[in-house]
Amino acid sequence: MTNPQPLNILYLSAEVVPFAKTGGLADVAGALPKAIRALGHDIRVVMPRYGRVEVAKFGLQPLLDAVVVPMDERTEPAAIWQGSIGAGAGQTPVYFVDSGRYFDRQGIYMYPDDAERFIFFARAALETCRALDWRPDVIHCNEWHTALIPNWLKTVYRDDPFFAGTATLYTAHNLEYQGIFGYRILEIAGLTDLGFIAHPDVAPDLNEVVDMMARGLLFADIINTVSETYAREILTPEFGQRLDPILRDRRDRLFGILNGIDTELYNPATDPHVEAQFDLNSLERRPANKAALQAEVGLPVRADVPLIGVVSRLIDQKGLDLIAAIVDPLLRQLGCQLVVMGTGEARYHDLLNALATRYGDQVKVFLTFNRRLEQRIYASADVFLMPSRFEPCGLNQMVAMHYGCVPVVHAVGGLADTVTDFSPETGGGNGFSFAQYDAMALYTALVRAVETYRHRDVWRQLVRRCMSADFSWTRSAEKYVDLYFRALAVKRQAARSLDDYAVLKRKA
Ligand code: GLC
Repeated sequence: MTNPQPLNILYLSAEVVPFAKTGGLADVAGALPKAIRALGHDIRVVMPRYGRVEVAKFGLQPLLDAVVVPMDERTEPAAIWQGSIGAGAGQTPVYFVDSGRYFDRQGIYMYPDDAERFIFFARAALETCRALDWRPDVIHCNEWHTALIPNWLKTVYRDDPFFAGTATLYTAHNLEYQGIFGYRILEIAGLTDLGFIAHPDVAPDLNEVVDMMARGLLFADIINTVSETYAREILTPEFGQRLDPILRDRRDRLFGILNGIDTELYNPATDPHVEAQFDLNSLERRPANKAALQAEVGLPVRADVPLIGVVSRLIDQKGLDLIAAIVDPLLRQLGCQLVVMGTGEARYHDLLNALATRYGDQVKVFLTFNRRLEQRIYASADVFLMPSRFEPCGLNQMVAMHYGCVPVVHAVGGLADTVTDFSPETGGGNGFSFAQYDAMALYTALVRAVETYRHRDVWRQLVRRCMSADFSWTRSAEKYVDLYFRALAVKRQAARSLDDYAVLKRKA
């Protein structure tokens, strides 16, 4: 169904696996472009060259010496390096924006000048296209870091023939992180013409700040988020993080596309980290992984005790408050084992450490991030617990399922789109889910999971169904290509018109 005309696509992300990662955005940016390239499009990725992205380690090649980037009244040079992700038909160039001033630091985010850093990054990406004389048909922006590009294309670059045919797609991965700054940012970005944008229905204080994500949502030709359910949820005040009025105005151009997982990176049949590799046809090999993990982390080696795995950032969004509320009865009444890996808020670190002390032979906690342990947990645990309060997509539940770990989730966002509740009557479903975000609902789901675990044949069916689900990127990549064409169509219709946001009152 995909339109065969090959497109030039510039894909921007602040983080890309394997170069820099803090969350799921990096996984997506390291996988989706490869799948789009494999469909025959000239997609190129751009990210900053942080200090940790070592030139030698990744074999980066110098591409451009000094791209001139307008910043406020001055200009700032960017050097561009080139590397790549993927292999064969999916091999995709990655451009790295280098700047001693903005990126030669160890960390990725959390600097006082973050807004300025990412304005520079996004603007440098545009100017790099020009320097290479490579015209993108579509610029695919992700998250607030790159959200000013649609704004620029409709204003400062409006009469620039180089970008005359360029459409924009803006992907919001998580509405919680909007990139909110003061007016000074608009001066640095050269965007004072449109000033603050006041929407009659958004909270008044939002009309007094520069919300980078809101600008992406407002100016992009097409917008999307990372699951169909989340795309519907964010139209409501409950999930819209105060941007729902803007999203409702633009619902005709808002889409949801479920993320995939990188099945080359995450494959239980070839995973070098697991004890015993397995697939659907050799499921009898899986239990060796559980025994190995139990032994390694110092839990009693017991096949009959259900092992629950948690791999998560340890923050409220991920439902840690619910886990905290039920963990005592879970351990005492249901007798489960629990292995947790991740980092996050100090109070959850304390709580988990205390649990590991209190229930020494049931709970093991690893306050770290480590791929080997992560993949061993997926390959070993019986149940994967992910009761997120909200979840735009969620990748870990998909990886866990791909490794035969049965999910227990809150039925929201991408969790609702990937996990269907097991029904003992029909035998259908591939996990356990609960609708109401409360401790009793989670506990009930866990009781059902543990009970079902005792029925070995039924459980085996669940495991098989999890492992048979298709979470590869190919299908979603085709949907993104459709959105690219849609963005081009919108762009052609609306060429040179600012009508899209005429509904919004501009501040005097
Ligand atoms: C964000 C979301 C997560 C999603 C990821 C990749 O981290 O919170 O749900 O899977 O982005 O899109």
